[in-house]
Amino acid sequence: MDTDTVRDEALILRRPCANDGARIHALIAACPPLDTNTVYAYLLLAQYFQDTCIVACRQEDDDLAGFISGFIVPQRADTLFIWQVAVHPSQRGRGLAATMLDRLLQEQISRGVRFIETTVSPDNQGSRALFNALARRRGAVLSETPMFDRSLFGGQSHEDEPLLRLGPFQ
Ligand SMILES: CC(C)(COP(=O)(O)OP(=O)(O)OC[C@H]1O[C@@H](n2cnc3c(N)ncnc32)[C@H](O)[C@@H]1OP(=O)(O)O)[C@@H](O)C(=O)NCCC(=O)NCCS
Repeated sequence: MDTDTVRDEALILRRPCANDGARIHALIAACPPLDTNTVYAYLLLAQYFQDTCIVACRQEDDDLAGFISGFIVPQRADTLFIWQVAVHPSQRGRGLAATMLDRLLQEQISRGVRFIETTVSPDNQGSRALFNALARRRGAVLSETPMFDRSLFGGQSHEDEPLLRLGPFQ
């Protein structure tokens, strides 16, 4: 991956590495309503799932501006599951999430991916807008079906997480 100018700021878009794990954890903690997983979980993603994850760093000082985690659905090699999308509050509204998502998808299309799946809580307007905009840009169909009901989160207070499926991408 390479340097990209997202609106007016030079950002490096690249795959994460283990050195990014703790910084990704801090970024996610600064991006409610995302669930903050353990540093170890982000180390695993950076180590074993780096082909389907992406980070954006400011060229100027290497600060972490954005992160997307994903994986190829084990039973369906044509489907990229997007887990968490985070853009630091100071970097929002400049198209960074859309740029990271496009870059990740484009790479995976060349490896045979045709669909994206993700879950989005009903109230997360930003996330819904991001995936709606992606479907619109790419002429893809977006469908929504129930997946993780709030009752599945045990004692935790958590919203439903319905499944969004987008595609087919060419
Ligand atoms: C959601 C989030 C990733 C968006 O990042 P961003 O870099 O500001 O998004 P972009 O500028 O690339 O915007 C992409 C599209 O979503 C829209 N959008 C972004 N945030 C929005 C919001 N809060 N409300 C409504 N629309 C929003 C943009 O207008 C744009 O749509 P358009 O192309 O039709 O104009 C960021 O706000 C964030 O990290 N939020 C907290 C964590 C979260 O909820 N993550 C998503 C769940 S996986």
